[in-house]
Amino acid sequence: MTRRQKVYEGKAKILYRGQAPGTLVQYFKDDTTAFNRKKFDVIEGKGVINNFISSHIMQKLGDIGIPTHFIKRMNMREQLIHETQMIPLEVVVRNIAAGSLCKRLGLEEGKPLPRPLIEYYYKNDDLDDPLVSDEHILIFEWANTFELNAMITMALRINDFLSGLMAGVSLKLVDFKIEFGRLHGPDEDDVQIILADEISPDSCRLWDAITNEVLDKDRFRRDMGQVKESYQEVARRLGVLPDGVVLGRMDPVISPDEEPETP
Ligand code: TMP
Repeated sequence: MTRRQKVYEGKAKILYRGQAPGTLVQYFKDDTTAFNRKKFDVIEGKGVINNFISSHIMQKLGDIGIPTHFIKRMNMREQLIHETQMIPLEVVVRNIAAGSLCKRLGLEEGKPLPRPLIEYYYKNDDLDDPLVSDEHILIFEWANTFELNAMITMALRINDFLSGLMAGVSLKLVDFKIEFGRLHGPDEDDVQIILADEISPDSCRLWDAITNEVLDKDRFRRDMGQVKESYQEVARRLGVLPDGVVLGRMDPVISPDEEPETP
């Protein structure tokens, strides 16, 4: 069997070239990092849970007309996705004050914001992903006005939809991070901005709606324990993990390099 070509390896995912032109296979690792890799652990089964949660959410966003890179979930750890030219920004939407917003501005965590706050971070590990403004984005040409407006519109729609989805399973969507890419069509000026990321407890803050119990990566960042159990609880509430699956035994038996790509 031919070995897959690795295109990129990030902190939590690996991208392999897909069989069809313009496609990639996105493999979800169990590696868990925080603070730009200063904190690292392997949480067995996390990649599987995130793959299921993210596939479910991408499918639903597609259903309401948000263009995403997601084509299909291939197996326990992999998705087939469209290859895009990534825009080097992390777009964060916040509904409740938490995390770096509180640290930066000295706010109390848990205060609901009067309306969703959108922030942009320039993706650059060497610089620790600094906060930037729309002016930086336009002046340094990371995106143009049209693209920026498309990202804002989509980010707010995703926030509305996800907030409702989470509220339906008694979770508060405190904040989340998303990234976008350019999908190039056959013509040179045929470019569409699409959501090109995962959406999972790695990239969202999710609190229980009644108790405010933290059910996301902050449990890892803050050494709160029960990280996998919390991710599993989110998956259970969303109804996305297959019945009877025992974590740790869900991994593909063969390595991603060897695993055949199902059509
Ligand atoms: P922050 O409060 O640390 O800026 O995080 C805001 C949101 O973005 C939170 O839901 C976690 C998510 N996030 C990522 O997905 N990746 C990152 O590298 C960072 C810093 C945050």
